[in-house]
Amino acid sequence: MTRKIIIDTDPGQDDAVAILLALASPELEVLGITAVAGNVPLPLTRKNARIVCELGGRPDTRVFAGCDAPLERPLVTAEYVHGKTGLNGPDLPDPTMALQDRHAVDFIIDTLRTEAPDTVTLCALGPLTNIATAFQRAPDIVDRVSQIVLMGGAYFEVGNVTPTAEFNIYVDPQAADIVFRSGCDLVIMPLDVTHRALVTRPRNEAFRALGTRVGVAVAEMTDFFERFDKEKYGSEGAPLHDPCVIAYLLAPELLSGRRVNVVVETQSELTLGMTVADWWGVTDRSPNALFIGDLDADGFFALLTERLARL
Ligand code: BDR
Ligand code: CA
Repeated sequence: MTRKIIIDTDPGQDDAVAILLALASPELEVLGITAVAGNVPLPLTRKNARIVCELGGRPDTRVFAGCDAPLERPLVTAEYVHGKTGLNGPDLPDPTMALQDRHAVDFIIDTLRTEAPDTVTLCALGPLTNIATAFQRAPDIVDRVSQIVLMGGAYFEVGNVTPTAEFNIYVDPQAADIVFRSGCDLVIMPLDVTHRALVTRPRNEAFRALGTRVGVAVAEMTDFFERFDKEKYGSEGAPLHDPCVIAYLLAPELLSGRRVNVVVETQSELTLGMTVADWWGVTDRSPNALFIGDLDADGFFALLTERLARL
């Protein structure tokens, strides 16, 4: 049986690879892609999502535009990582497929109300503004969500955009707080695990060696966005954060973690957006998430390369 998913995203090269992985995987039915402002402003993320669908040979995928700013704060973007367009690297044509008329938040609400309860998984690859807005506007949908698998936060790695916060959570901490407290079944891919999904030189050459448009484009995206992490962390290559979310749906045995309580800091200026994860079980707060901590990186790249080859 296929698993129905909505991908909520701010592409972003690593979002793009996650979308391609989902489109390549027959186990998943992508009901729609909802764009949110994040890595770059909304006019670019909603365009990039369609560029990626066309690159994947799936112009029939429905793409919806969502919120253009976080719930309570001005938008912070990350062109310094992803480039001016968010998808810098390969030379990809503007999309010809249309954007859907409906707002992404309405699409999320309508879908959760019409599909059978417990059958739709939300895959969140950017700030959580669209999902939190849907939950605020239609609290009845919260119980109908099967699972939310999201990329965001950090514990051992602490932060990437501030000393204590990961980008997706930092951009919209209020939205993250709503989602983390929602009671939904949550699976979190923090930096602790995504920093293990490193595209080393041989792994990137394996993408390029596919010789397909997709393989070459993914290699060129990585060529572009690896410079940032290489300089900052001295790492071997770029971390493919967001594809960890899709990999979890396809091969959960590649990832492991702990069920813990995770709360988002929404008040402090110093630590805004910090994900306070009770990894060591030192509070009596009930677990609200499966917080992933480790990844079989070779297995992950084998899966990704094999799937991308299908597009
Ligand atoms: C997250 O922020 C974005 O830059 C990436 O696309 C990923 O979702 C990593 O902190
Ligand atoms: Ca992202």
